Amino acid sequence: MYRKFLIAGNWKMNNGVTDSVSLIEVIRRRMEKVRAVDVLICPPFIALDAAYKVTSGSLLRVGAQNMYHESKGAFTGEISFSMLRDCGVSHVILGHSERRTIFGESDEFINKKVCAALENNLSPILCIGESEGEREQNKTFHVVEAQLKQCLDGISNEQAENLIIAYEPVWAIGTGKTATPEIAQEVHSFIREKLVEIFDKKLANSVRILYGGSMKAANAKALLSQVDIDGGLIGGASLIADEFCSIVEIAENLSL
Ligand code: PGA
Repeated sequence: MYRKFLIAGNWKMNNGVTDSVSLIEVIRRRMEKVRAVDVLICPPFIALDAAYKVTSGSLLRVGAQNMYHESKGAFTGEISFSMLRDCGVSHVILGHSERRTIFGESDEFINKKVCAALENNLSPILCIGESEGEREQNKTFHVVEAQLKQCLDGISNEQAENLIIAYEPVWAIGTGKTATPEIAQEVHSFIREKLVEIFDKKLANSVRILYGGSMKAANAKALLSQVDIDGGLIGGASLIADEFCSIVEIAENLSL
């Protein structure tokens, strides 16, 4: 089964409107010839509209880093899926470990958001992954399975067509420690097996599973060469145009 690589930049709380536009302009110029890889940029909410405008006419896509599951109403400080659609957003990162640990998001809450995204034509990038302590206690597979099952509860095969998963071991995020390609592949293949159980084989084989956690140009080739690694969710390295574009080019070369 052919799965097109997706390289996504998670900018987190970095870059306002002006800096976002400048960085995207550089990325856009260098990515002009890229065809075999999907490239996604996820700036902060306030820069989404400008990001969409500066990417229009290119193959770059714009994603959000979070959303709320209601379409509108008295939810101070929140942004809904309809607002994201309105500014040209195609993807949304959900359940990132920083949302889970710093802002207390539960699997049940994330499940509501994943359902709302899928029902409203946004591709969710559902993040799952174990903490350092959980890995040390050999709980990785248990944690990943529980997160996957709870966050995907009630979703049908048809709805799941636009689903994307990101395996992000918490101990590798922003720490410079990367999972070895073998460790990452082992978990990715486990995630795919679980997707077969939750949905079916055909769907499980079409879902892209991204790796996230200190991915950079220097380790991208080894990670992206693994059979079940279908792209990357890149934090720190996505803020540096040359690093990010190099990762995309590595993915492009592996696809040809
Ligand atoms: P990192 O972040 O690449 O800086 O480790 C990845 C992420 O949090 O999505």
